[in-house]
Amino acid sequence: MKTKNHSSHYPEEYTRGWVEFFYQRFVVSESTLIPRLETESLVREAIAFARINKPDICIDIGTGSWAIVLSLLSAIHIPHVYATDISKNALTVAQRNMENHGKNITLITGDLLEQFFENTLLENNKSILLVTNLPYIKQDDWEHMSEDTKYEPMLALFWWTNTGFELYEKLFLQVNTFIEKYTPSNLTILAEMGEDQKDIATHILKSYGWEFSFFQDLRAIERFMRIKIR
Ligand SMILES: C[S@@+](CC[C@H](N)C(=O)[O-])C[C@H]1O[C@@H](n2cnc3c(N)ncnc32)[C@H](O)[C@@H]1O
Repeated sequence: MKTKNHSSHYPEEYTRGWVEFFYQRFVVSESTLIPRLETESLVREAIAFARINKPDICIDIGTGSWAIVLSLLSAIHIPHVYATDISKNALTVAQRNMENHGKNITLITGDLLEQFFENTLLENNKSILLVTNLPYIKQDDWEHMSEDTKYEPMLALFWWTNTGFELYEKLFLQVNTFIEKYTPSNLTILAEMGEDQKDIATHILKSYGWEFSFFQDLRAIERFMRIKIR
């Protein structure tokens, strides 16, 4: 196992314990991904969407440090906000960020949306926005990763299969169950994906019959999905 003493590639964000994201500071540790500049485009889109559509509920799935959802809440009020992550360690960091930023978010540990099936957490017929940046790097890409990235949690980066898109496929299956249980009046997903995943995303989203489009990061690369489910 690597330690910070063994390499000059150890991320300086972990050494100092914070990162700047969307004009604010967030606590990070080796338990969380270091939020990336490109993810700010997802936040901008979520803010624009929420200003127009005024969702009752926002759920950030795979929230890590909570940088996405706390940035969103710094710009706009959403009445009910949930953040889920499968990693208990990541949620400890998220809790510190929530306290630092003075926001009220319901913290949920679990696999994607599963806690929403096991417990009834939401009212029916609400307008819901899901935001997410799930792990999407595929196994074959490990050797091409930069050295500093290899200090970040594997759970935050990798889904150990062929395309890297399988966790999104699992989420889409869960969304169907979510709709049956909560019958949302509106449901939109804004999600980050890999820059080589547009074709697979298109193929899979078409099979659901959902309305979808892609939007770009700051380098004009289409790497975000905008999925209007209802
Ligand atoms: C790419 S990181 C994104 C973190 C943060 N949202 C961001 O953009 O900086 C993916 C996150 O998803 C979490 N995760 C991985 N598998 C998950 C699962 N099955 N259910 C929920 N969260 C998961 C990881 O622990 C990690 O925090």
